[in-house]
Amino acid sequence: MTLSGRHFLGVEDCSCQEWLDLLQLAGALKRGETRLPTPGSVKVLGLLFSKPSTRTRVSFAVAMARLGGQTMDLPPDSTQVGRGESIADTARVLSSYVDALAIRTFAQNDLEAYAQASTVPVINALSDAEHPCQVIADFLTLQECFPDLNGLTMAYVGDGNNVAHSLLLAAALLGVHLRVATPRRYGPDPAVVQRAQRLSQGRCTVTVLHDPVEACRGAQAVYTDVWSSMGQEAAAQQRRRDFSGYCLNAGLLAHAAPDAVVLHCLPAHRGEEISNEVLEGSASRVFLQAENRLYGQQALLALLLDLV
Ligand code: CP
Ligand code: NVA
Repeated sequence: MTLSGRHFLGVEDCSCQEWLDLLQLAGALKRGETRLPTPGSVKVLGLLFSKPSTRTRVSFAVAMARLGGQTMDLPPDSTQVGRGESIADTARVLSSYVDALAIRTFAQNDLEAYAQASTVPVINALSDAEHPCQVIADFLTLQECFPDLNGLTMAYVGDGNNVAHSLLLAAALLGVHLRVATPRRYGPDPAVVQRAQRLSQGRCTVTVLHDPVEACRGAQAVYTDVWSSMGQEAAAQQRRRDFSGYCLNAGLLAHAAPDAVVLHCLPAHRGEEISNEVLEGSASRVFLQAENRLYGQQALLALLLDLV
């Protein structure tokens, strides 16, 4: 399998089979069953991050190092992008130097503009619309917890944000039932829900509701994320009020299956969207999930840069 030269702007850029191959490679890399050859010439990944990052940035850097390559930080405020050079010109020039670009930004349209002008793969390292690299690690973690993804039921409780969107799309592709519970006005983009429903091809259900208890009932995995994403800080106080009752605490988790696992992409606000008790509790797989970012990133880069 290869994804040689392709862009990875969202979950739907890979087919169901490609997702399964990606997860298989990530697992094999983690277990040391697959060793990738060090490429003859060093590959370079450019990191264009307009928002902070710990996991994504560091796991990309370590993944590239392990593949025999390297990363180059290209923060907008130290390049001409910060002074208004167009995305099209920037992408044309940068893609004549580096082998791939990982971009963390706000608008999905900007990512698409980079991809259109770039001659090398562009990877979505988080946008307001999606976080597809995160969900590689999420589904790798679920595969490690349960023998078969197919038919599993997952609940997502909280904001209908970028992470929820990528989960909806990947769950639908991989045959995982997903129930998303959000307060009214904070649901996922209906167009994304429709796309997920189309992708599921009747293999699994995608449900959006407003009752966290109903979403969690009998679920084998319960996922949550922050109530205010990067860029929404000004609305944080209002959001705290609107999301009351959506905290993933022991009371809510009690409605899930007895063997349910808890996921969170991190960073977390303990005491808001998740209680400290649940985050540190026996059901939590949150730090395994964070570790798996490295193997997800390594697998994705190996496939995009044709290193397998
Ligand atoms: N989960 C995640 O993407 O974390 P960072 O913002 O630290 O990269
Ligand atoms: N929804 C969060 C995810 C952080 C990894 C954000 O966009 O800030």
